[in-house]
Amino acid sequence: MHCIIAGCGEGLGKALGEKVLEEGFSVSGLSRKQSIIHPRYKHTNADLSIPGNLAGLLEEPCSSAKGQQGITFVYNAGVVRPIGRMGTLSSAELISAYQVNLVSASVLANEFLRLVKPQGRPMHIVFVGSGAAFHPTIGWSSYCSGKAGLAMLASVIREENPEMSTFLVDPGLIDTEMQADLRKEAKDSFPQVDKFIGFQKDGKLNSPEVVAAKLAYLIKNPGTFDKLLVKLSEISEA
Ligand SMILES: NC(=O)c1ccc[n+]([C@@H]2O[C@H](COP(=O)([O-])OP(=O)(O)OC[C@H]3O[C@@H](n4cnc5c(N)ncnc54)[C@H](OP(=O)(O)O)[C@@H]3O)[C@@H](O)[C@H]2O)c1
Repeated sequence: MHCIIAGCGEGLGKALGEKVLEEGFSVSGLSRKQSIIHPRYKHTNADLSIPGNLAGLLEEPCSSAKGQQGITFVYNAGVVRPIGRMGTLSSAELISAYQVNLVSASVLANEFLRLVKPQGRPMHIVFVGSGAAFHPTIGWSSYCSGKAGLAMLASVIREENPEMSTFLVDPGLIDTEMQADLRKEAKDSFPQVDKFIGFQKDGKLNSPEVVAAKLAYLIKNPGTFDKLLVKLSEISEA
């Protein structure tokens, strides 16, 4: 089995890459940093905030995996910044955030379908979403709306491809750099900052390894999940 992970330099994406490699998968990773070293891992340096970087990015990962039985594309890259109320944000930072959270996900999923569908083998797409898609949060306009767009993108792909599994995953709270960064934010721009500080104090954050094991379970057993939205906290098998 082959897994392509967009956004695997740290956090959940890195832990997922390591977990599926441990399970015998081969993995192609796309991100700015390479943090996984393994004989079955191939890295492509890619900054997904830059539209011009996307052309041809999946050609090699999709063709090098041709001998493999099945292939899963995981779009995990995400950025919560810029943080602040609308009217105070940098236009360039907004464009870059939508590019990572939504536009690159759409362009790469389109490429994945174009390249792999004609190969006629089992294929799946997993988008890493967030509860923020469904909960308006002051200071998170680009994150909430980017993830909401990602949720609709996943729904449309699922309608268009009933023969294939398409999932939108809610990973829950993960103890990663993204959470550490949020805890440093000023109350003015992010009024819920104390709540997020409390999540860490109260031990509500899950390790990336625990969450990655649940995500790997979904990737290995797509047929046992029938809904688009999968809350990883509800997977007890992994
Ligand atoms: N942490 C949470 O509590 C939480 C909750 C709900 C949803 N999520 C979602 O879970 C996913 C993983 O989050 P995380 O907590 O692991 O965050 P993280 O530690 O900040 O990691 C973000 C990942 O996205 C990649 N990425 C970011 N910007 C990129 C860019 N311009 N180009 C390519 N890759 C880029 C990073 O790789 P490089 O830095 O190497 O590029 C890294 O692998 C995200 O989609 C996030 O929205 C997280």
